[in-house]
Amino acid sequence: MTILITGGAGYIGTHTSVELIESDYEIILVDNFSNSNAVAIERVEQITGKNIQIVNADIRNRDDLIKIFEKNNIEGVIHFAGLKSVNESIDDPIEYYDNNIAGTINLCNVMNKFNVKKIIFSSSAVIYGSPKTVPIKEDFPVSTSNPYGQSKLMTEQILSDIFISDNDWQIALLRYFNPVGAHESGLIGEAPNGVPNNLMPYISQVAVGKLEKLHVFGDDYDTKDGTCIRDFIHVVDLAKGHVKALDYFKNNKTGEVLRINLGTGKGYTVLELINTFQQVSGKNIPYDIIERRPGDIAVSYASAELANKKIAWKTMYSLEDMCRDTWLWQSKNPNGYE
Ligand code: NAD
Ligand code: WQD
Repeated sequence: MTILITGGAGYIGTHTSVELIESDYEIILVDNFSNSNAVAIERVEQITGKNIQIVNADIRNRDDLIKIFEKNNIEGVIHFAGLKSVNESIDDPIEYYDNNIAGTINLCNVMNKFNVKKIIFSSSAVIYGSPKTVPIKEDFPVSTSNPYGQSKLMTEQILSDIFISDNDWQIALLRYFNPVGAHESGLIGEAPNGVPNNLMPYISQVAVGKLEKLHVFGDDYDTKDGTCIRDFIHVVDLAKGHVKALDYFKNNKTGEVLRINLGTGKGYTVLELINTFQQVSGKNIPYDIIERRPGDIAVSYASAELANKKIAWKTMYSLEDMCRDTWLWQSKNPNGYE
């Protein structure tokens, strides 16, 4: 089965490419390299020993997408392409809605034209807003306070409406918690542009000496050590979740919308992550506690039950594994893919 991967050169796209190839799926990638580097694809080729077809195109370009669908017998799409920073989305909502919403609509339009009705979409735990209780279940109310989160909610709505109009569609809305880690080879990993917004890449850049010290945003939350709790999930576990969703659709031919959390079901505090990283890497991570970051919620972790029941997916990697693999990637590639 041939799968088109939009945003295939990115952090999660590269790791998912490896897992798909290892599960005997054929893949074609499309990426405009706005947040990635072609070297990442060479690394995926190195890991898998396969040549990878990658088209340098923007998913908002209808003609380019049509050409890809004309030339290849695509049976399904995994849709990663999009912009992903909450802060940037507040500063530039037009760009975010254009990429994430207009891009998705263009993609669905072309899929429809070619009768391709299988799509796996990268949604996010951001859509649960500030949940009243944890673990977070898929039927919890959704809400969000920023354009990035809105774009995920809107896309979920658009895809759900497509299913209502045509029950043949097989749609998986996968809600990721906090993806971290890297492939065990140390050849691919997360390579953010500029100073990282997210915790794990910030820690690993401090460890490798690119950044001086970490700022921990608040230690006065109602948690065991006062810092926020998150559901960190190894990117390889996350990637395998996409394979499981595709396998599910292959084996169950009926149309359906799956709304599924991809998290471990376990939360760790920011300080626990820092301590584990220090132990695993042997590096000291100097940090200062500063004021809370606006918009952060105290505790977020998934209920992973539905993913296990519905698509037979379970995470394998521990917090130590996540830190070890992040460190291997960062220490072998201090400047990412450059
Ligand atoms: P990433 O930035 O590494 O990958 C996204 C890829 O899409 C990049 O290679 C980028 O160049 C490409 N891209 C962006 N806009 C495009 C366009 N218009 N046309 C073609 N290519 C385009 O991000 P990632 O961490 O791999 O995330 C993948 C998806 O998962 C995103 O949709 C993101 O919102 C979602 N997600 C990520 C996280 C996370 O923490 N990493 C959490 C939840 C959801
Ligand atoms: C984790 C914890 C921070 C950086 C974001 C998006 C979410 C999803 C995943 C895309 C928080 C603390 C962080 C730092 C810190 N992405 N922190 N110092 O905010 O849980 O989720 O990424 O969909 O939508 O919002 O992840 O890694 O930014 O923060 O103390 O330098 O680490 O306060 O408690 P977050 P994060």
